[in-house]
Amino acid sequence: SLPVPSVQEMVRNDSEFVPERYVQDHKNRPLDSPTFFCSDSSDIPVIDLSLLISGDEDELNKLDLACKEWGFFQIINHGVEVKVLNGMKAVVAAFFDLSLEEKKKYAMPENDLQGYGQAYVVSEQQKLDWGDLIFLMTRPIEDRNMKYWPTAVPGFKEAVEEYSTELQKVTEEIMANLSALMGMDRNGLERLHAVMKQSMRMNYYPPCSRPDLVLGVSPHSDGGSITILLQDDEISGLQIKYKEGWLPIKPIPNALVVNVGDVIEAWSNGMYRSIEHRAVTNADKARMSVATFVLPDAGIDIGPVESMVKDRPRMYKDIKYLDYIKHFLERKMDGKAHTSFLLLESD
Ligand code: SIN
Ligand code: FE2
Repeated sequence: SLPVPSVQEMVRNDSEFVPERYVQDHKNRPLDSPTFFCSDSSDIPVIDLSLLISGDEDELNKLDLACKEWGFFQIINHGVEVKVLNGMKAVVAAFFDLSLEEKKKYAMPENDLQGYGQAYVVSEQQKLDWGDLIFLMTRPIEDRNMKYWPTAVPGFKEAVEEYSTELQKVTEEIMANLSALMGMDRNGLERLHAVMKQSMRMNYYPPCSRPDLVLGVSPHSDGGSITILLQDDEISGLQIKYKEGWLPIKPIPNALVVNVGDVIEAWSNGMYRSIEHRAVTNADKARMSVATFVLPDAGIDIGPVESMVKDRPRMYKDIKYLDYIKHFLERKMDGKAHTSFLLLESD
């Protein structure tokens, strides 16, 4: 059974009421800090992956700058066919369209992260996010636990497998380029992962009668090495921390949004930044997204790599990834707060 109610079901039963547990504290309310709207000068970089593949130096510099200044970028010409993206979106939509009864067959138990439900609910007091999700481990293949893969959706397994394989190729290309930029050979980052893991969080954010009071996802930074987001082509919701406020990421049809996670921030000794972000809701339309997380093996070290401490003082501790994950999961997401655990000065 679910630890907290399905937001989708709540909205189905009463589309006006917003329970207290979903009403954010003032500092986190969508309109209580400034929202910057993208102009040419404040828009995250768009990287052409096909240029990176062909060895274009300017594009590589653009990637470097994107990870240093923004921690976020969109990729186009990434090689994932539109029918694969659409196939993935279709099975996610079909899953959330099932009855609650049917979805509950894949419910996340209290001692597991996989399944249908809500992530990071650690106390009765915490504010809840305005969204439901299904979380699955997708790579390596032996990590898949098929009991959470909804057989009630025709073609779910095939669509996720295909998308997962394509995203692995995209991941390897990005990692190879980041390795070079971090002063390693092209396999450097892949080697550091020991086993490169991949998981997916499929999100469903119902419309909300008071989008000014709730968040689809509370502010956080991602705990893995990189995250690749497939989002709705028209309905925006993702916002990244920018100056003293938030910058909405304007969807580019069929592009993917990539962001640096805490592990690359630590490996790069802070050269690349894992930026805080959140998702807002809207009053009219449900929004869906699929966040694909790339993670290293739990046993490996996530301290800065040698090439990153040659010219700059070491800022991050050497700790096992498992210890970081434990720290991460024991707390409610609170912006970048958990990242300070990685810093040397926090000892
Ligand atoms: C997330 O960062 O967890 C999800 C963001 C989104 O749905 O856009
Ligand atoms: Fe995230």
